Amino acid sequence: MSASVITLETQEDLSHKLIIQPPAVGLSLQGSIRVPGDKSISHRALMLGAIAQGETEISGLLLGEDPRSTASCFQTMGAEISELNTELVRVKGIGLGNLQEPVDVLNAGNSGTTLRLMLGLLASHSGRFFTVTGDSSLRSRPMSRVVKPLQQMGAEIWGRKGNSLAPLAIQGQALKPIHYQSPIASAQVKSCILLAGLITEGQTTVTEPALSRDHSERMLRAFGAELTTDPETNSVTITGSAQLYGQKVVVPGDISSAAFWLVAGAIVPGSELLIENVGVNPTRTGILEALALMGADIQLENQRQVAGEPVADLRVRSSRLQSCTIAGDIIPRLIDEIPILAVAAVFAKGTTVIKDAEELRVKESDRIAVMAQQLNKMGAKVTELPDGMEIVGGTPLVGTEVDSHTDHRIAMSLAIASLVAKGITTIHRAEAAAISYPNFTATLQQICSN
Ligand code: S3P
Repeated sequence: MSASVITLETQEDLSHKLIIQPPAVGLSLQGSIRVPGDKSISHRALMLGAIAQGETEISGLLLGEDPRSTASCFQTMGAEISELNTELVRVKGIGLGNLQEPVDVLNAGNSGTTLRLMLGLLASHSGRFFTVTGDSSLRSRPMSRVVKPLQQMGAEIWGRKGNSLAPLAIQGQALKPIHYQSPIASAQVKSCILLAGLITEGQTTVTEPALSRDHSERMLRAFGAELTTDPETNSVTITGSAQLYGQKVVVPGDISSAAFWLVAGAIVPGSELLIENVGVNPTRTGILEALALMGADIQLENQRQVAGEPVADLRVRSSRLQSCTIAGDIIPRLIDEIPILAVAAVFAKGTTVIKDAEELRVKESDRIAVMAQQLNKMGAKVTELPDGMEIVGGTPLVGTEVDSHTDHRIAMSLAIASLVAKGITTIHRAEAAAISYPNFTATLQQICSN
């Protein structure tokens, strides 16, 4: 067997070209790997640590660009955060309601979670003025989904296009509690309102059409907030004006990052990978259910609870995949994994249909359009639907030039597809992977050479 050739070239504009040439025959992926810390939990640990009283210790933090944006915003507003590392980050919180008015614009970079969650806190900091912005992708993503409920609570927020696009300006106010019926199942919307409710006297409730990830609920409770949930109605209620207290947070590996290796292990013949220490919170495990439906061979080993979150080691062995339909309430539980699921579907027998996922159009890129275009460039048969994709599996892929559109999950999904494409695939703007997975290429090289 000849080896895979995987190289990363830095371009004049500092973007990266990831070039992948699998061997003509005989590639199999082997080894034990660890994925970086969960992005959603990393953001929340930094934020709650910053606004709690006392010290928070975070181990396993994701060192991606997105949590760095969160850390930098909260440092600007007075929290002391030690140098970011995976071992132990110390956050000296400033106590509830004490974020300082920054003298400059807060920059959330590429991170929707940073901007949307932070907005709930800023809007409720009475008497202080804030301005927030982000990169060109974030400045084009809809903010009205959080601005509108915050305005119902009495928030004063201004921005472009009817206060729906960043940059945004916020004049903090004492807010009033509401019961918000969210039209979308979004953890960012839910968490934004809960964080606003935390600093608002009375009880604030959010009801969502389907359950989205519940990391905020778990961590707010652990930090001492009074919070109740009603699983029958997908509602969560927070009681305001509580104090939060610094905690020890252990961030598990990100199942959204593990998903790339789960699909790689499933579609590259003869592979066996063990992905250790992965968070398997039931609000995030839609990917495991979808891959099981497709016939993937994935075992959960060593299941345990770590600091309030379920964790397991995931073993994947290659198998023949078949098509399936993915729609309805499972969508929010695998929303970030749909690009890589589309890659799995390309190698499955039959036609896979993904529906009810219009949210993908307003992620870091329009993930429906971009995945369809890029996979089709490689020879796949993907048709865009308004709210998803139809993927006819079984056509062999051929390496070509593709582009991440600066979206981290697209860059990594295309890298996995290229492992089973004939010839050389060049992924432009592959540096985007560092948003959630700084060591992605190194791990790819490792499992291809074992
Ligand atoms: C996230 C929620 C999801 C997800 C995003 C992270 C979070 O977004 O896509 O990557 O940490 O709350 P939505 O809430 O917009 O669905």
